[in-house]
Amino acid sequence: MTARPSSERGSVVVRQTTAADFAGIIALTQAIYPGAPSWTEAQLAAHLRVFPEGQMVAVDESTGEIVGMAASLIVLWDDYELTTSWRDFTASGTFANHDPVHGRTLYGAEIMVSPALQGHGVGTQLYAAREALARRRGLLRIRAGARLRDYHHHAQRLTAEEYVAAVVRGELVDRTLTFQLRRGFRVLGIVSNYLRHDPESRGYAAVIEWVNDEVASREGYEPMTWPGY
Ligand SMILES: CC(C)(COP(=O)(O)OP(=O)(O)OC[C@H]1O[C@@H](n2cnc3c(N)ncnc32)[C@H](O)[C@@H]1OP(=O)(O)O)[C@@H](O)C(=O)NCCC(=O)NCCS
Repeated sequence: MTARPSSERGSVVVRQTTAADFAGIIALTQAIYPGAPSWTEAQLAAHLRVFPEGQMVAVDESTGEIVGMAASLIVLWDDYELTTSWRDFTASGTFANHDPVHGRTLYGAEIMVSPALQGHGVGTQLYAAREALARRRGLLRIRAGARLRDYHHHAQRLTAEEYVAAVVRGELVDRTLTFQLRRGFRVLGIVSNYLRHDPESRGYAAVIEWVNDEVASREGYEPMTWPGY
């Protein structure tokens, strides 16, 4: 995708995904994770079947182009461990484990913005829509695995724990984790083998949480803390 100067770009809107968006989402995945398995039409259709409200795209209004997407499901966190992999949290990408009856946690399974548009606020728009969804559904929190996108630059001298601590302290910037920390997320812990096809993160992710204050204060929820974060 070729970057256009911001003066030529149309405004970007976030809306619920439809089947007509699948080709654009698949193209976006291939641009962001070249060489890794992409979302398939069957998986994207399954997401729409189980939880249409949780599937969002960001669209350039002037061209209709899909420039971002976010995919979420509701999980009962007690069914999982902090160390659970992305594959298990998403039932191998199908969201068959979506549990809106018992679940209180919106799980962020995917968020991506076109490489040409990163750093222009589209991810912030997608996260605002995700947050609004969590509030609308009265959910307690959003959790996700933040892939440590820039860890490979530091992996020779820092452990993943040391790297995350430096990002949390603001001494290093990780284009994924720093973005999420600025959106109000906190780190709960660090997991290895979270993503199988991600050389940039070396498979490491920070488990992160955003708390819906309204529900948390009503229920006296004490957010989990992790030493050092
Ligand atoms: C993470 C991601 C979704 C963020 O979306 P985005 O549209 O780039 O985010 P925004 O433009 O809203 O930027 C948010 C912040 O990050 C900074 N930022 C984002 N991308 C940046 C980049 N490439 N270079 C420098 N800063 C960047 C922005 O300056 C901004 O700072 P602020 O919080 O002080 O305003 C996007 O970078 C992306 O698709 N990354 C690749 C896929 C990925 O790693 N997804 C996360 C999976 S866990």
